[in-house]
Amino acid sequence: MDINKLITEAFEAQKNSYSPYSDCKVGAAILCEDGSIFKGCNIENSSFSVTNCAERTALFSAVANGYSNFEAIAVVGSKEGNNDYFYPCGVCLQALSEFCSDGFLVIVAKSNNDYKSYKLSELLPYSFGRENVL
Ligand code: THU
Repeated sequence: MDINKLITEAFEAQKNSYSPYSDCKVGAAILCEDGSIFKGCNIENSSFSVTNCAERTALFSAVANGYSNFEAIAVVGSKEGNNDYFYPCGVCLQALSEFCSDGFLVIVAKSNNDYKSYKLSELLPYSFGRENVL
């Protein structure tokens, strides 16, 4: 897995962040099992709850294009130019859990050589799942 490339793609996606209300610019890139990468950014809305996070934009873009097996997601963010680690929110972790196995990696990055990597199961040890519904 080329983590550096995934982070670079997340930074590319961040450039498209539409975030006039929070000024939090978030980018994400999700890696599919076959090596394809889909990018996403946060897309805010004047009706705040309509806002979509970068991670879900990337995930939904991949699924909409026929992909449902994933290996990792990289997430980058900044607020007023200062970047820190931006962790996926609970809603995004739940959305990822629908498609991603416990070993799926969540990479939060400040730069290409400053990042942390977690298994999805570390960030979301318990979740609501298909077994609860079917
Ligand atoms: N945001 C994300 O894009 N991903 C997250 O996991 C957390 C929050 C965005 C949504 C909103 O545009 C901004 O950050 C502030 O909440």
